[in-house]
Amino acid sequence: MKIGKFIAVAVLIAGAATMVSAADGATIYKRCVVCHGKSAEKVPPGGSIISATLPAEEIKKSLKLYKTDKGHGGKMKASMQVQVKPLTDEDIDTVADYIFKNFHIAK
Ligand code: HEC
Repeated sequence: MKIGKFIAVAVLIAGAATMVSAADGATIYKRCVVCHGKSAEKVPPGGSIISATLPAEEIKKSLKLYKTDKGHGGKMKASMQVQVKPLTDEDIDTVADYIFKNFHIAK
């Protein structure tokens, strides 16, 4: 019985730890839906690439460059610079992996 109780407590702690950890990919991606579509399947307004066709590494690289390199991107880069501003590098990796894992379209 003691073991059962221990496991129940361990599960509770694990659950609580998950809740306070960084936002998950689905939560972060909600911010992107309006322009990129539910499954990253749309060309964003003024953009030219469907994010779902990109490898995860490309998505990460591009998002990080929007943060650090003012010259990165196309004519609509300002709209992405605003988007990535509140995201940590960890958030970026998480959301890029989420997009790739769930929505990837092979070209
Ligand atoms: C306000 C609309 C808008 C929102 C919200 C938005 N994007 Fe974008 N995104 C764009 C536009 C427009 C471009 C093309 C920018 C350019 O010209 O460089 C773009 C470009 C990108 C690119 C570069 C490659 C490509 O697909 O064109 C990636 C990757 C990307 N967005 C991911 C995201 C992610 C992830 C989020 C959510 C955190 C997000 N975007 C939120 C409009 C948006």
